[in-house]
Amino acid sequence: NEDGYDLWLRYRPLDKSAQASVQAQARSIVLPGAATPTTQAALDELQKGLGGLLGRAPAPATRIADGALLLATPARLPELNSNASPLRAELAALGNEGYLLRQTRVQGYNVTLIAANSDIGLLYGTYAWLRDIGTGAKLEASSAPTLQLRLLNHWDNLNRTVERGYSGQSIWDWWALPDIKDQRYTDYARANASLGINGTVLNNVNSKPEVLTAPFIAKAAAIADVLRPYGIKVYLSARWSTPLELKETSTADPLSPEVQAWWKRKADEIYKTIPDFGGFVVKANSEGQPGPQDYHRTHADGANMLAAALAPHKGIVMWRAFVYAPKGTHIGEDRAKQGFDEFKPLDGQFAPNVLVQVKNGAIDFQPREPFHPLFGALKTPVMMEFQITKEYLGFSTDMAYLGTMFEETLQADTMTAAGGRTVAKTLSGIAGVSNIGTDRNWAGSHFDQANWYAFGRMAWNQQAKAKDVAAEWAALTFGADQRVVAPIVKMMMESRETVVNYMTPLGLHHIMGTGHHHGPAPWVDNLERPDWNPVYYHRAGRDGIGFDRTAKGSNALAQYAPEFARQYSDPKTTPEQFLLWFHHLPWDYKMRSGRTLWAELLAHYDKGLADARSLHDQWVALKPLIDARRYTEEEQRLTRQMANALLWRDACIAYFQSVSGLPLPAGVKAPA
Ligand code: GCU
Repeated sequence: NEDGYDLWLRYRPLDKSAQASVQAQARSIVLPGAATPTTQAALDELQKGLGGLLGRAPAPATRIADGALLLATPARLPELNSNASPLRAELAALGNEGYLLRQTRVQGYNVTLIAANSDIGLLYGTYAWLRDIGTGAKLEASSAPTLQLRLLNHWDNLNRTVERGYSGQSIWDWWALPDIKDQRYTDYARANASLGINGTVLNNVNSKPEVLTAPFIAKAAAIADVLRPYGIKVYLSARWSTPLELKETSTADPLSPEVQAWWKRKADEIYKTIPDFGGFVVKANSEGQPGPQDYHRTHADGANMLAAALAPHKGIVMWRAFVYAPKGTHIGEDRAKQGFDEFKPLDGQFAPNVLVQVKNGAIDFQPREPFHPLFGALKTPVMMEFQITKEYLGFSTDMAYLGTMFEETLQADTMTAAGGRTVAKTLSGIAGVSNIGTDRNWAGSHFDQANWYAFGRMAWNQQAKAKDVAAEWAALTFGADQRVVAPIVKMMMESRETVVNYMTPLGLHHIMGTGHHHGPAPWVDNLERPDWNPVYYHRAGRDGIGFDRTAKGSNALAQYAPEFARQYSDPKTTPEQFLLWFHHLPWDYKMRSGRTLWAELLAHYDKGLADARSLHDQWVALKPLIDARRYTEEEQRLTRQMANALLWRDACIAYFQSVSGLPLPAGVKAPA
């Protein structure tokens, strides 16, 4: 039954010849020394995985023999540490979480070795080995993560609704916890560990005071107990005014000794129940959330106060830079500038266990945004925040593989140092806003599982290529048959650009339906705050279209490195995909294609629609090769996507024509 519950850990039987070669690599499974919860998880996964792939899993054995699959750390197999070991230096370089896979000789026997410095490394190595088998790939030589913090952020509320969630309810069943621990928690842990995700924030950034009360701490502790063997730490999102709202202090001022003492006590209480608790993420003074500025204190004052409470326990604070002023202040200021304006001056003032968590772009998880100017601008450790759930990219209805977006952002050149420095190089951690819910397929659609997968793989390795990751996922999810994998990868690689084209081509942004952010609404201009209105962002009129962020406009460009600002201040040297993000241009502006801006814009909308139709057709052609259930479920979504694309195309063309007053060029169909 292909309901998608197994995600990429399906372990369907390999063909006979592949089975024979895997059998030869794993006639027995040997783990020297005693099993721990983490190595037990690895052994269980091998039983499950090989049981499925081969039909029968090899028995665990105690003695190393020819053909053994050997899981070993230097502590378990001291010879790995001996000067004579050819692997010693390589292993030492892999750190606590890395692993190596090798066909080698140990104690005179030919073995397949999964080696690591720690049990969690062995678990990661086990998943890598199973992945290599599942995709038919060669053994990965060795791998270690570059970033220590690789987190999911759940925007899950305590009533089990999920903010911007399109895949059912929250998987955290707060009512049943802590006594009842759903099997899903274990399967969630397996899926994340298979990617190397090692932390999870359980609750929404728009948090509630109750989260930090004893009953909820006990519930979080029960989840932490399930996730711990899989190397995953639990974190919570803390509401700034918690002590005040719980009526346990008279203020939430971070400089008040009463408040500081409360948070210290609270941290001590949490660590008593969750000894390896990770720390807090905080959304403060943003979109109506309370924060230190309510007391005329800075983000640094606020973050440092929490950091002081967590430091004795080695906890961290992830303080979000997604801020824009509450009603009444900064109105009229370009919202894209505010995160930088508030955080850059505080650089150097944050405690060592504080990270600033920055969304990939300066507005809000748009289908395409230039990277946030804070990347490369701070000495303070910075975390990337990607959104895996597709708030602005068609929910779990439209197909949009985000691997290409992650790669585009991670590889963007911040131009902050000679020779260029990519966004990836500026990071100390990475977080992804989860798309996980109670749907059988977890993510709302089969293809949205790929976005969770791609986030995890790229959190482990920022140099991973979106295309390779897509190929891996497709093989694990639909079977390692090139007749299936190649066309699916092609669809995935086209999908996000397709969405950009029918929603927000050429650097347009934030023109979605108000509130829900689904569907087009470029005409909206009557919201409470000007910077919520789509018209504020596209600025289309008789004279042209686009947001001038050069020195003649909001000058947001000045927040970037000088070389970047120079290149992007001239429309001629601005990549066209960001043209209307940085420039307001006349409709007859000449594009590189030779077309006018007006004609080019229309051509992008038309291409988006044509490509949405093509995605559907490509899927239909795969029907004989895909199981009926998953075929149908995706076909229905792709049909909806064609309708969404048509709506976007027609609505945007009709609206922009109403403001430009220009005729449609020959060949462009009038909107219905
Ligand atoms: C967006 C999103 C909100 C979310 C916010 C945030 O504005 O629409 O639902 O709370 O981002 O990241 O804090």
